[in-house]
Amino acid sequence: MKLGIGLIGGMGRGAFVGQLFNETGEAEVRIVYDIAPGSFAVGRERFETGGAKPTCTTDLNELLGRDDLDWVVVGTPDHTHYALARQVIEAAKNVFIEKPMTSTTAEADELCALARKHGVQVVVGCELRYSPPVETVREALWADRVGKPVSAVFVHQEARGYTYFLRNFRKRRWGGVIMQKGIHYIDMINDWADSPPIRVTGTATQGVFGGRPEAAGQYCRDCRENGTCAFSFDTVPSPTWRKGGPREKGEHAFDHCVFMPDSDTEDNMHIHIDYANGLRVSYSAIYFAPINRKEVWLWGSKGSLHAVLDGPEPVVEFTPFVAGMREGQPERLPIESFSGGHGGGDARMVRAIVAASRAGQVVRPHALDGRHGVAVAEYAAKSILSGMPEAIPLPGDPITPPDSL
Ligand SMILES: NC(=O)c1ccc[n+]([C@@H]2O[C@H](COP(=O)([O-])OP(=O)(O)OC[C@H]3O[C@@H](n4cnc5c(N)ncnc54)[C@H](O)[C@@H]3O)[C@@H](O)[C@H]2O)c1
Repeated sequence: MKLGIGLIGGMGRGAFVGQLFNETGEAEVRIVYDIAPGSFAVGRERFETGGAKPTCTTDLNELLGRDDLDWVVVGTPDHTHYALARQVIEAAKNVFIEKPMTSTTAEADELCALARKHGVQVVVGCELRYSPPVETVREALWADRVGKPVSAVFVHQEARGYTYFLRNFRKRRWGGVIMQKGIHYIDMINDWADSPPIRVTGTATQGVFGGRPEAAGQYCRDCRENGTCAFSFDTVPSPTWRKGGPREKGEHAFDHCVFMPDSDTEDNMHIHIDYANGLRVSYSAIYFAPINRKEVWLWGSKGSLHAVLDGPEPVVEFTPFVAGMREGQPERLPIESFSGGHGGGDARMVRAIVAASRAGQVVRPHALDGRHGVAVAEYAAKSILSGMPEAIPLPGDPITPPDSL
């Protein structure tokens, strides 16, 4: 019997996650809800993959009232996650919430408590954890190869960073780039640390985007440089991304000029995270880089790791420390082969959810993982504004999920 999937969000990421569930052959999308009926036509090709024939509805209650759904995917814009996920949990259904889990730590704490109360699982769409190079790093750390993890530096170069400035993420109000994109890498680091983040300090500036008075109120669609300007809507390399069009003009349009002066999110940042186990991590992100590259160096009491997580040939190298903290022989650690989006993480994560559901196991990143990611992003943004280190509050509830449900 296939697992039943309900989708909230009929196009974009929601439809893609629906497709991934259908492609497992062990799950099928049975109902799709969206506020905009036009979305169904855009997403249909995806959520009907493999012969699925879901009902499409603009009535959320129709989805919440179904009793044949094992998971409901919340694949709508970030600021809608909390309210929608809350209703799904209150309807006693397991929920896959796209990242970020919520917009604030307080909201995430509420969902954690609510999920526990209703005995349902929450899984957050930070699929990079499931990318094989990332797993290789985790396995080396968790197998104690580096000893006690002490210090790490993570450098994130983002070649398509301008696409965030085309959208509402150009404003802190909508989460900015830390909550929207940085959260993937924050979640990855949190997972490696295997310990709660307790304090965060950040500095950041706008180095390239924003800040041009002549770009005030400009949309790419009205600009004669659309399609030639390297940062315009028509230049975005992904046709899938452009498929839904630039959207209605206004806050949520997809084609704001990246140089608009009212953009207040940063395009480069240095964030320092302290973990309860003593690990200290420096995460630096550059959103105007010409290449995509995620690289990490980590030092422990018994050795160090260096990893390049993306590109055609990801590398994870372990170097043991020998007597007197001298370098031993470096060893390249094996990385499972992979294909598909987000370093193979998209499909692997969905397959893991299906397998864990069948086995009655908890899937990670779970509610508490999602909460820690949101907390680091939120308090980093606060620190960037305050210029001071910010303590991350402890979770408001004893919310460690049960081992199985
Ligand atoms: N995990 C990843 O790698 C990844 C990648 C891309 C996007 N995302 C996340 O997926 C989510 C969706 O992103 P997207 O680009 O597809 O968004 P989007 O703006 O394309 O919206 C998706 C759909 O949600 C619908 N929608 C909006 N508000 C709604 C509401 N209140 N109720 C019901 N439907 C509503 C829209 O009509 C649209 O069809 C975001 O949270 C984003 O951060 C995650």
